[in-house]
Amino acid sequence: MTRHHFPESFIWGSATAAYQIEGAATEDGRGPSIWDTYSHTPGRTLNGDTGDVAADHYHRWADDLGHIADLGLSAYRFSISWPRVQPGGSGRFNQAGIDFYSRLVDGLLERGIRPVATMYHWDLPQELEDTGGWAARETALRFQEYAAGIVGALGDRVHTWTTLNEPWCSAYLGYASGVHAPGRTEPAAALAAVHHLNLAHGLAGRVVRELAPSAELSVTLNLHVVRGASDSAADQDAVRRIDALANRAFLGPMLDGAYPADLLADTASVTDWSFVREGDEKLIAVPLDVLGVNYYSSTLVRAWDGVSARSDADGHGASTSTPWVAADDVDFLPQPGPYTAMGWNIDPPALTELLLRLHREYPNQPMMITENGAAFDDVVSADGRIHDERRIDYLRRHIGAMADARAQGADVRGYFVWSLLDNFEWGYGYDRRFGIIRVDYDTQVRTWKDSAHWYQRLAATGKLDSAQD
Ligand code: FCB
Repeated sequence: MTRHHFPESFIWGSATAAYQIEGAATEDGRGPSIWDTYSHTPGRTLNGDTGDVAADHYHRWADDLGHIADLGLSAYRFSISWPRVQPGGSGRFNQAGIDFYSRLVDGLLERGIRPVATMYHWDLPQELEDTGGWAARETALRFQEYAAGIVGALGDRVHTWTTLNEPWCSAYLGYASGVHAPGRTEPAAALAAVHHLNLAHGLAGRVVRELAPSAELSVTLNLHVVRGASDSAADQDAVRRIDALANRAFLGPMLDGAYPADLLADTASVTDWSFVREGDEKLIAVPLDVLGVNYYSSTLVRAWDGVSARSDADGHGASTSTPWVAADDVDFLPQPGPYTAMGWNIDPPALTELLLRLHREYPNQPMMITENGAAFDDVVSADGRIHDERRIDYLRRHIGAMADARAQGADVRGYFVWSLLDNFEWGYGYDRRFGIIRVDYDTQVRTWKDSAHWYQRLAATGKLDSAQD
């Protein structure tokens, strides 16, 4: 039975990120990034895995584009590695790095696939971290220079420019809980990073407007669906606080042109936000052609009662430092299953809820799902195939949830599955597989999982089947 029929104009894509797939970490003039340093530091990643080789996409990009074309996808979301194109993070650009992305973009265009390029998917040049990283305002200015270099070179051959991927993770996991590079645990630095990432977005957005006027501009946020354990005033205040840190810290300046007053008040014990200068918020609010939304699971909170055992099941990796700056009295509760291999709960209706909230608050803002997908412990069967029924079920339900939001008016124009390939899943290394295409890391052979065949059919027909089909 067909549950939903998507129009032909709907964009079906897949997503990846440079450090997670490229490998070739020291080739052709690439400089080190904070993720090279972090992953090479003992104890930081599972099994000590690094992105040195990853899925070897730097050498296999043409074959990988062949897979995207065979899948019948109309768009591909990839990221540009800053240290590959501008090794030290300022000054000199590396022509070999720019040439790589230029070939990739041309290869997509030749195959009729829309290039959607993310400027920053977490791989800050190490030299910029050494001078303060995202806690320093200067890094946002360097980002503007980097943006001018790549937009100048690739221009409107790139259909959609995305400034940042999930600045929430860069700021709070990188600088507060330390489970991501650069691994710092400094709450005040994390809030400064929030602002400097927002500023970088605004500055780079203006570069796109100027240098590639016919390209679309976007940003990708991992917005949280936060629910309270009860309707009590205390639990609902916990929801408000987490919503401020997780969502409105970015939506506020980017779409409303101002930080929410409650966020500034909630975090006053950590910082006075004096790093926000006159005019910054206006600069950040560059109009977006499309808002990118990444969604995987939902969040359940309560106000800590002061006596019960603490609970920090927020799904963002174990650390003795919290990513939730100045929210020490909020508990993150474990949620009912089922779960993916990340331990994340599967909650498709929350995606409908999120899209409808955005539609309500920003009715004229087109959106795209720029990431959604699941890690499971895939098994290669005797027939050589990967029967990843649970991944298909996850995708079917979430695409259905997106369809429900569209039916109620949300202007969602595309969907990008995370991910095209199994890849380096940050702190979890190669242990968690999100691909619809399996990568054998010993041989680099790619094998389509059943989910890839399923997604190919969906992209070809626009018809979302129900589980009974
Ligand atoms: C997102 C990241 C992406 C990938 C998925 C599973 O937070 O943007 O790189 O790691 O999660």
